[in-house]
Amino acid sequence: MRAKPFPRIDGTLAAGEVPLDALAREFGTPLYVYDWAVARTNLERLRAAFGDADLLVAYSVKANGNLALLARLAGEGAGADIVSGGELHRCLLAGVPPERIVFAGVGKTRDEIAAALDARILAFNVESRGELEVIDALARERGVRARFAVRVNPDIEAGTPHEYTRTGHAATKFGVAADEALALYRWAAGRPALEAVGIDVHIGSQIVEPEPYRRALAHVLEIADRLASEGVSLRFVDLGGGYGVRYADEEAMAIETLARLVVPPVRERGLRLVLEPGRFIVGDAGVLVARVLYVKRSGTKTFVITDGGMTELIRPSHYRGYHEIEPVRERPGAPRVTADVVGPICETGDFLARERTLPLPEPGDLLAVRTAGAYGFTMASNYNGRRRPAEVLVDGDDVVLARRRESFDDLVRGERLPDGGYAP
Ligand code: LLP
Repeated sequence: MRAKPFPRIDGTLAAGEVPLDALAREFGTPLYVYDWAVARTNLERLRAAFGDADLLVAYSVKANGNLALLARLAGEGAGADIVSGGELHRCLLAGVPPERIVFAGVGKTRDEIAAALDARILAFNVESRGELEVIDALARERGVRARFAVRVNPDIEAGTPHEYTRTGHAATKFGVAADEALALYRWAAGRPALEAVGIDVHIGSQIVEPEPYRRALAHVLEIADRLASEGVSLRFVDLGGGYGVRYADEEAMAIETLARLVVPPVRERGLRLVLEPGRFIVGDAGVLVARVLYVKRSGTKTFVITDGGMTELIRPSHYRGYHEIEPVRERPGAPRVTADVVGPICETGDFLARERTLPLPEPGDLLAVRTAGAYGFTMASNYNGRRRPAEVLVDGDDVVLARRRESFDDLVRGERLPDGGYAP
């Protein structure tokens, strides 16, 4: 087993060798801290598991789109899985080569499709006939060929901790059934502005079992074989993302086992394999550091009130997600209490943990919320007039303020002022 990220050194949690309390002092709290070495190692481990497969790791930008992180991932050869024009913009700024970008999502607008065509991305992961028609029309207008893969809904239930992160069964809005997929490829075969290059499937997120992937792959390969027999030869199969990490005491996805199941049938067909991991790369590479403001006892309950809450990390509230919480600095002799760790937001759903046993902190202490590198900052909001937090990336002994904390002016930018102007 590899070393736990953000180890405790002389009683204090650290990113690499940089103590988190020093970062909190310098950049304030709440604060996201990422350790690049952890993300890079996760990427290396994934690559090593898939060995000699012809592999494109299209990192899922929605997990964490910070430019400093994206640029480093691109530097390691990763591509990107994007779902919006905003994410495309980010990728281009960060230097992700367009030929390594795939674009998924059920509701791509004409503007987003046009921008992706102009950027010459690797492929659209198409989720409906209507979308493919729009892609065809816009590609024709531009005199270019649009590369696409059809996202197939395999109607597979994969176990995820929350129903909101299951996407592979027929009742979700994602992808199209096998019959419709075949129909789309056949329709496209007669259209010079469309080029079928792949087939795509994504069954959900935070999945720790390899088996559903084997079934999903078998399902799409059957379609690919059928297409090959009709003269439509694809270049890649995109297996989506969703490989689970360890939040509590669950086992993370055994990525080596997954690779053993997946690589042979893909290689046998001479196809390239595209993977879209998000959380697996960045999940444990990030922590949210928050400062304790008050400790409040009310009846039998204890509330640890911190300056971070659901606006910084919505996963506990939205998915009942579990995140380990530890004091940044050990406090020897502190009694252990069972408390709700909550934020300052005016919602009962504003909590980072409920009924959690931890050493009783004092006001001013720092807490680290672990495994917050994925779907932490990207789901942060300005609710309650909150400024989104700063993000710091530690790269060896280098500390990069990867995003400055928002200012009050950031909060009102673009709003109409009483004098008739717009806030700059
Ligand atoms: N590819 C597609 C098409 C996706 O929809 C997703 C995630 C991924 C890849 C990356 O999944 P990952 O490897 O990160 O699990 N906000 C939720 C997770 C939502 C995932 C949405 N799609 C959470 O915090 O658990």
